[in-house]
Parts: sequence; structure tokens; C-alpha cells
Amino acid sequence: MFFASDNSSGAAPEIMAAVLRANDGSQRSYGGDDLMARVTAQVRALFEAPEAAVYLVATGTAANALSIALTCPPWGAVFCHQKAHVAEDECNAPEFFAGGAKLLLVDGAEGKIDPAALQVQLDRIGAGGVHSLQSGMMTLTNITEAGTLYTPAEIAALTALAKAKGLPCHLDGARFANALVASGATPAEMTWKAGIDILSFGGTKNGCLGVEAVVIFDPAKAFEFEIRRKRAGHLFSKHRFLSAQFDAYLEDGLWLRLAGQANAMGQRLASGLFSGNDAVSVHPVPANLMFADWSRGTSVRLQAKGAQFYSRAGAEGRERARLVTSWATSAEEVDAFLSAYAAQL
Ligand SMILES: Cc1ncc(COP(=O)(O)O)c(C=O)c1O
Repeated sequence: MFFASDNSSGAAPEIMAAVLRANDGSQRSYGGDDLMARVTAQVRALFEAPEAAVYLVATGTAANALSIALTCPPWGAVFCHQKAHVAEDECNAPEFFAGGAKLLLVDGAEGKIDPAALQVQLDRIGAGGVHSLQSGMMTLTNITEAGTLYTPAEIAALTALAKAKGLPCHLDGARFANALVASGATPAEMTWKAGIDILSFGGTKNGCLGVEAVVIFDPAKAFEFEIRRKRAGHLFSKHRFLSAQFDAYLEDGLWLRLAGQANAMGQRLASGLFSGNDAVSVHPVPANLMFADWSRGTSVRLQAKGAQFYSRAGAEGRERARLVTSWATSAEEVDAFLSAYAAQL
């Protein structure tokens, strides 16, 4: 009954097998390996973006921070949701790598940036001339940190506002596969067709061992990204092991099948939990991540039965629990949790 995070699961067998296969023989180092050429070709085809530049790093924090540094000058503003992972969970890596850029937190319900609130913040850019914050970039997250989903149309509405001020736009897709499965959109519809210039394309949470791709739709700054990745210590010498993971991840739609399982288990869990009784869903649950508002005793009793999840005290004896399913979550695991939940009511 492990619902603490989707990165609590191991790696999918197909990914492990690919890493083992990649261990045979010698390969060029630092991204010159044959598998990386296949990854680039696969990503370009999937995104209908024949010019896109594709790079691999080992963590989502690196993918985000390097993407932000690439698109934001040191004096620029980074527009993001107030609960964004880049704002709350990356230990100021975006500001560090961008050399002084400032995160501007924008409000919005259900983990999504509110367009009117964004416009207010955008209008601050350059208002004080040389003294003020200058044009930077915008970053969105899908699936959001609240577990909710931006549709391509919602992304396009926000990027249109940002682009009217000349801002490049980034998408934190640590759960990009979950967002695609939940929306039915194509990779292109969710990204460049909706105004996204650069994407952190997650692998680790969805069954890889440790790899994320950065996809740059306009390759003009591709070499600069390579330099930044090297300086950040994220250019792996035995790069073939990153390539092997992402190649297997994309092969025959494995990435979408894994996210399909995570989302299906998320739906099973949500429909069992939020069907009356004590637990209330804090946000809509389109994918694999949810927040339950329930009594404090519920958290204590479930954890005593061995269930794993993060939980934070709320007001008046209530508690807010975060539950996440993954590619490895089984129906039995969900049902065991639902039975434990029902038994303690
Ligand atoms: C939305 C989001 N972005 C990025 C990350 C990157 O994480 P890490 O640097 O731990 O790989 C995470 C992981 O929790 C996340 O939830």
C-alpha cells in the first residue's frame, strides 16, 4: 500500500533489460552513442518536430533548472504557479542556474495559473525601466502539482499572454505521459502547438531508472544548452545508459502504457475513496495524483496498517493526504488500501 510518490516504485523490466543490453561492447561517450541518435529520431517523430534538439539529464530538477537558465536572463522574471515544483521543491536551483533570475509566483485555483492573475504580473515587467525586473520566461507544469490537468487550450491561452510580452515558455513534464493519457492530446498538441518552446519530458517517475529528456523545439540555442548541461555536471560520460532507458521508454509506446496503468490505478483509488464517507477530494483527479481531506484519525489508522503516503495536518482535526499511484501499482494494492480505509471508518 505504497502511495507516497510515483518515484517510490522501481524501474520497469523493459527499462532494466535495455540498460543491461546497453552494457555490451563499447560505445562513444558523452552522448555520441548510437542509442542517443535513435532517441532523438524517436522524439522528433513523436512530437512532429523534425528540427527539435533533444538532450538527456538524470533528474527533473536539472531538466527544469537548465531549461529555465537557457530561456531567462539573470535579470529576468520566471513566471510560475505559486505551488510549482520549481518554486517549492528545487532548493532555488532555477535561480542558481539562471544566475539571479527571480521567480514570480502567480496565483490560480487547482494548481493552475489564473490568466487574469498572470496578466497582472506580466504588466509589471519593465515598468520601472532600468530599475525593475525585466522580461524572462514562463514555466507551467502538467500534470500539475495539485494533480490536475491543463488542456492544450488552457496552455495555449497562457502562452499567448506570455508571448505577447516576448516570453519563451517551458513545460515541466515530470508527469508528461500521465497528462497525455489523461487528455488524449498528442505530444505536439500539448507542447509546441500550444506555444511551449522547451519541455522537461519526464521518464523517472514513469518507470525509468533515472532519466529526463529536455526537448528544445527551436534548436537555435541547442549548443548553449549543451554547454550549460556540461557546466552543471549533467553530461554523463557513460551516456549510453541514459539513452538506453529513454529509447526503451519510447519504443512501441511503453511510456504511454506505463502512464495508462498509473492513471487507471489513480482512477480506481479515487472512485473508491471519494464515494461518500469521510474522505473528500481536494481537487479533480484526472490522472494518478490526488489529495484527500479526511480526519486526522484516518491518516493515523491507515499508516498504522502499513499504508504509505504523505499527510499534513489541516484545521479542526482534519488532515490533507497526498496519494500517488504509479506504473507499478496493482489493482490488488489499491483494493487492499480501500478495504483498510473502509475498515477504519
Ligand atoms: C512536478 C515535478 N517536477 C519536477 C520534479 C523533479 O524531480 P527530481 O529532481 O527529484 O527528479 C518532480 C519530482 O518530484 C515533480 O513532481
